[in-house]
Amino acid sequence: MSSKLEPILWLDGKCHLLDQRLIPSQKSYFIAEDLQSTVYAIREMLVRGAPAIAIAGAFGMVMEIQKMVQMPSKEKLDELFASLQASRPTAVNLSRMILDFKSKIEGWLAKDIQLDEFQKACELFAVGEKNRDRQANEKIGQNALSLFPNDKKKLNIITHCNTGSLATAGHGTALGIIRSLRDAGYEITVFADETRPYLQGSRLTAFEMQEEEIECFIITDGMSAWLMNDRKIDAVIVGCDRIASNGDTANKIGTRGLAIIAKESSVPFYVAGTKDSFDFSMKTGEEIHIEMRDPKEVTNLNFLKDPSGKSILTEGIIAPINAKALNPSFDVTPAKYITKIITEDGVWNPGEQKRNESQN
Ligand code: MRU
Repeated sequence: MSSKLEPILWLDGKCHLLDQRLIPSQKSYFIAEDLQSTVYAIREMLVRGAPAIAIAGAFGMVMEIQKMVQMPSKEKLDELFASLQASRPTAVNLSRMILDFKSKIEGWLAKDIQLDEFQKACELFAVGEKNRDRQANEKIGQNALSLFPNDKKKLNIITHCNTGSLATAGHGTALGIIRSLRDAGYEITVFADETRPYLQGSRLTAFEMQEEEIECFIITDGMSAWLMNDRKIDAVIVGCDRIASNGDTANKIGTRGLAIIAKESSVPFYVAGTKDSFDFSMKTGEEIHIEMRDPKEVTNLNFLKDPSGKSILTEGIIAPINAKALNPSFDVTPAKYITKIITEDGVWNPGEQKRNESQN
């Protein structure tokens, strides 16, 4: 069953982004009209989740290209792509999309393409990215079914951050698996880590689960050890932002701790993501650059900034004024804590997909 949430809409040449900072209080769209407003939306997390960032970024480029009155130079395009690339660094999806888009553009330019054809081709590329992600997510959901017993129809699953429709083109990765399990007849109870500091779990995952009528309990990030000890948990399923060749995986801050607790508690720990999440240029997770965000996201609830970077909401102070805080947005889970990685191509042991690729 497809999700009711449409995080990214491409309408009349504009990119409508469901403003994820306002969920669950409001369901309203921010309309990005050019690359700059798209970069703002990505940086300030109006749109977030590795696949959604890449798709929004592709539409951002399209809007910029559609404004052009003559064919752009390679230098101009490189400059635009560089501003997009700098918006959020950890997830590989954005860099991968940029590389693919650039290589397509190179091919079109080599054919001496006219401006209107070029603009159309760019739009088709972005639309294709969105469709491809949705299809891949649905396959991930199907592939994951083999990991769960047929004879046990009740499952308790812990998840972290938000990996659902809001974070992707529609179905979701880890949350897409939960949706697919429900569609396959399982009765699911989700335990959603609230996911400090940005609260993607309590604000977004709990919201998506309510929309889907899947039972969901929010837990604070520190509760998972108690939960895995006190209740029968069938699996932890999380998403990913970048998977190195050996299977080490960057994902939302807190994932590593969850994986260590899962291993200690003999609970399977699954990572779900499309093939786009692999970065075989990196041998291990040690090479992954972790984005550091504004400490005010930790010391204030609902810390919002306007496009110029000025704070527009200072309510919800939950620490002493001027208290220092750290805000690494992601951490790396070593492959040894990951039971399986689920992609649209199947179910893999960490590191196996790289080995498989080398044989082809
Ligand atoms: O900072 P965010 O909210 O963009 O982080 C999102 C995550 O870490 C997700 O788990 C990941 O991007 C996968 S989303 C399908």
